[in-house]
Amino acid sequence: MKLLIDDANIEKIKAIYRLYPVDGVTTNPSILAKTGRNPYAVLCEIREFIGDGAQLHAQVISRTAGQMVEEARKMAGILGQNLFIKVPSVPEGFRAMRELSREGFNVTATVVYTPMQAFLAAKSGADYVAPYVNRIDNLGADGVRTTKAIQDMLAKNGLKTEILAASFKNSQQIQALCEYGVGAATAAPDIIENLVKNASVDSAVEAFIADFEGLCGRGRNMLDCDLPSSIVIRDSIPSIPDEQ
Ligand code: E4P
Repeated sequence: MKLLIDDANIEKIKAIYRLYPVDGVTTNPSILAKTGRNPYAVLCEIREFIGDGAQLHAQVISRTAGQMVEEARKMAGILGQNLFIKVPSVPEGFRAMRELSREGFNVTATVVYTPMQAFLAAKSGADYVAPYVNRIDNLGADGVRTTKAIQDMLAKNGLKTEILAASFKNSQQIQALCEYGVGAATAAPDIIENLVKNASVDSAVEAFIADFEGLCGRGRNMLDCDLPSSIVIRDSIPSIPDEQ
C-alpha cells in the first residue's frame, strides 16, 4: 500500500518525509486554504521538495467538465510529472475524467462516499478512486467496509483503477485497509505519526539505552564505547551521509 501525506504545510511534509517511507502528497482546496497562501506557490514548493518521482495530487475547483479540463491542463503545465488531477466524483466530474484520461492525465476521483461513485469514476478512466473513510463513518455507515466493497467491486468488474483511501481519523482504519491490500492511503501527518506511537515501544527502547549506558557510560553508544586494544577493525567504516 502506498502511503501519502494529506497536507500542504511544507514543514510538516518535510518532517514526515525525513522519517517515514512515504510516496507523495495529496491536497484538497480546504487543505490549501489552511496555508493562507497562493495555491500554485504552495503546490510548487511541495513539488520542488518531493521531486518529480513522487505523486502530487491537486484538485480542480470548477463545476463544469470543460472548465475542469482547462484547469487540469494549466495545473499540469505548472506542476510537472506525476501530477494526479483530483476530480470530484459528480456527473460533470465523470465527463471530465473521461476527457482527462483520454488526454493522458493521471486522474484521482475524489469525494467518494459510495461504491457507485467509485464504479462510475473507474469506468470513466480514473487511476485512483478516493473513498472518504472517516466521513463515511460519520454518516453512520462503515468507511472501512465501504472501501473494501469498492476494492472487491473494482476487481470483480475487471477495472484497473486503484483505491486511494482518504479521510482518516485513526490508525485502525488505515491498518484494516493495509491488511486488505488497498493500493494507497493518504493521511494527515499526525495520523501517520500515530500509526507507530506506542508508549510500550518507547519504554522498551529507553530501557535498552539505559542498560547500555549502565554498561559503558552515560551518553555512550556503539560508535564511541571503548574498544579493547586486542580488537582489530576488519573493514573500513562506511561514512555516514550528513542529514538534510
Ligand atoms: C483526500 O482526498 C481528502 O481530500 C481528504 O482526505 C479529506 O479528509 P478530511 O475528511 O479529514 O477532510
